[in-house]
Amino acid sequence: MKTPDIKWEELPFGYVPTDYNVRCTFKDGKWGEIEVSDSEYIPIHIAATCLHYGQESFEGLKAFRGKDGKVRVFRMEENARRFIRSAEGIKMEPMPEELFCEMVRKVVKLNERFIPPYGSGASLYIRPFEIGLSPRVGVKPADEYMVVMLVTPVGPYFKTGFKPCKVCLSREYDRVAPKGTGSIKIGGNYAASLVAGEKAHDLGYAVMLYMDPKEKKYLDECGAANFFGIRGNSYITPDSESILPSITNKSIRQLAEDMGMTVERRHVPYEELETFEEAGNCGTAAVISPIGEIFDLDNGRKFTYCPDGTPGPKSTMLYNKLRGIQLGEEPDTHGWCEIIEFND
Ligand code: PLP
Ligand code: COI
Repeated sequence: MKTPDIKWEELPFGYVPTDYNVRCTFKDGKWGEIEVSDSEYIPIHIAATCLHYGQESFEGLKAFRGKDGKVRVFRMEENARRFIRSAEGIKMEPMPEELFCEMVRKVVKLNERFIPPYGSGASLYIRPFEIGLSPRVGVKPADEYMVVMLVTPVGPYFKTGFKPCKVCLSREYDRVAPKGTGSIKIGGNYAASLVAGEKAHDLGYAVMLYMDPKEKKYLDECGAANFFGIRGNSYITPDSESILPSITNKSIRQLAEDMGMTVERRHVPYEELETFEEAGNCGTAAVISPIGEIFDLDNGRKFTYCPDGTPGPKSTMLYNKLRGIQLGEEPDTHGWCEIIEFND
């Protein structure tokens, strides 16, 4: 097995071609066999529903090379279940959980040489997606679908990694509607976030933090990660119909409880920003990204955390615990990781 010529420690969160992807098509009312492809392209009909009416959903999960050399995939059943909910939310065919997991195992095994080594800080990002294939001109769901899973080795999502980043907030932009598609993971939500996201970047911020789209009173989430704040011994994170239920956040809530913290998952009013001692973003790509500053573009208010430039103690503890479990350094007491067997 030839090791790819990649500087693992310097990898950004980007696309690096790998050896294979896996695909599975839903046709004539049933899912077919898992196919292996070495092509980075898919031939699709020019009138396919994914191109015209946004029938596209995706997932993001990671495989890690552990301290013991073993490869662990983190909580893939949770991604499989969310993938089902996303498909149902835009009238696509849901992929059965076991088939999803089979595809994940297969694509990881096929690309073993691209799994970053332990200690590099990088991991193998797995990106499943589903698209509607049938040609339609009227607005109607397809009856043929394809699920593709690609993998790519990645480094940190935010350039700062586990160092405080700067975030901005504005009520001028929504990525989703109050009772819209925010709680599922579909491409359209991300298209709707691009203008605000680029504005944040142009102004020197890592990301835009959205307010709830109905009342603009409560914190929602960032474009690609959930938000949390820490005050005293409490881990506080928004509950909202318009945010994605993050698997990382769910795991951190459990870890916070395990550590004796109080977990509050509820509406989080804007005014609470000034009461937090620590704040952060969390997600598969973001892991835990501490926030050093939140700047309100609408009124010029600035909320600062981590005054000495280092992440706060609670965020650091949670980060170390989560990474430790993913890398096989800490006991996986909740059974979150599946070890991939390479010699069967
Ligand atoms: N929120 C949004 C909008 C996301 O795109 C993501 C990434 O998947 C998350 C939150 C974090 O979710 P998870 O921890 O399941 O990756
Ligand atoms: C993830 O965290 O997996 C995401 O999907 C976030 C982003 C890259 C869209």
